[in-house]
Amino acid sequence: MSLKVRTDSGFADMRAVWFEGGRLMMIDQRELPRRVAVAGFSDHASAAEAIRNMTTRGAPSIGAAAAYAMCLAALSGSDLREAAACVRSARPTANDLFYAVDFMLGELDGGADPVEAADRYADGIVEKCAKIGEHGAHLIRDGAKVMTHCNAGALATVDVGTALSPIRRAWAEGRRFSVYVSETRPRLQGMQLTAWELGQEGIDHAIIPDGASAHFMSKGVDLVIVGADRIAANGDFANKIGTLDKAIAARRFGVPFYVAAPASTFDPATASGEDIEIEHRSEAEVTEILGERIAPEGSPALNPAFDVTPAELVTGFITEAGVLKPAEIGRLRA
Ligand code: MRU
Repeated sequence: MSLKVRTDSGFADMRAVWFEGGRLMMIDQRELPRRVAVAGFSDHASAAEAIRNMTTRGAPSIGAAAAYAMCLAALSGSDLREAAACVRSARPTANDLFYAVDFMLGELDGGADPVEAADRYADGIVEKCAKIGEHGAHLIRDGAKVMTHCNAGALATVDVGTALSPIRRAWAEGRRFSVYVSETRPRLQGMQLTAWELGQEGIDHAIIPDGASAHFMSKGVDLVIVGADRIAANGDFANKIGTLDKAIAARRFGVPFYVAAPASTFDPATASGEDIEIEHRSEAEVTEILGERIAPEGSPALNPAFDVTPAELVTGFITEAGVLKPAEIGRLRA
């Protein structure tokens, strides 16, 4: 069930992030769906910049890129604490970034081989995502209408996906259903990345404007599945801006609302959603389209990249350890 990329000669299996020839490699997600471009990085500072400028994105892929960035720092003999500070500063919200840096510091301090440790980290994510699919696929019945937001697919998780993992698995098991993909303004990860991933595999889907989510729920959606960037100890979670609106609409219309995430996204040190730092990105992402300003000159814009959904709106967390109620997430150990 790995990411299938159509090529002139059939399909190529790819990962979103990998290590090859001494370099961190990644699909440049800013170029999709126009072309599948690959970018390579030889030092930890440029790897951190690739996380910051969203060459790769999505919490678990950010974590894998951070692990490989630390690997590059170790291979070049850089000061590991300074490198860790540089990588940690790339983006503030996704727990996986901090989790991966801590993982690598522990491994490197213990004398592990840098490439083997980072590869093991990335492989671990993929295994956990596959388990998320195993645990969550039964939630999607034949003929279902599923809604997702942003991109929580293979691109966001090295391979397989979190929210898209049960979707891909249910499809592979032969059930037929359709997926509403909300476009995800302002960076359009839903329209440009999730729709592309689903299209590569022929999974039935339709792109909808973000503002149409409640409308479609009022007409009948069977379940919503989203990913997460950070899940606090009480089950409140941060995810792409617009997730909260969907969770509120889902409660209003009686639609089950699931969050799919591996243990690396759960942050037991953060008590509640109020304590999660929300990234604010540039005004230009809101006011411009394809580099051209379309907002009136002089009108400012606000661009929070994530919002926080309270645990009370979550039906269940689909994890590698099974589907857990918010009150049960303390059971999950990284
Ligand atoms: O700003 P992004 O594109 O990194 O945000 C990504 C999301 O919000 C995803 O839903 C989340 O990271 C889960 S990815 C499995």
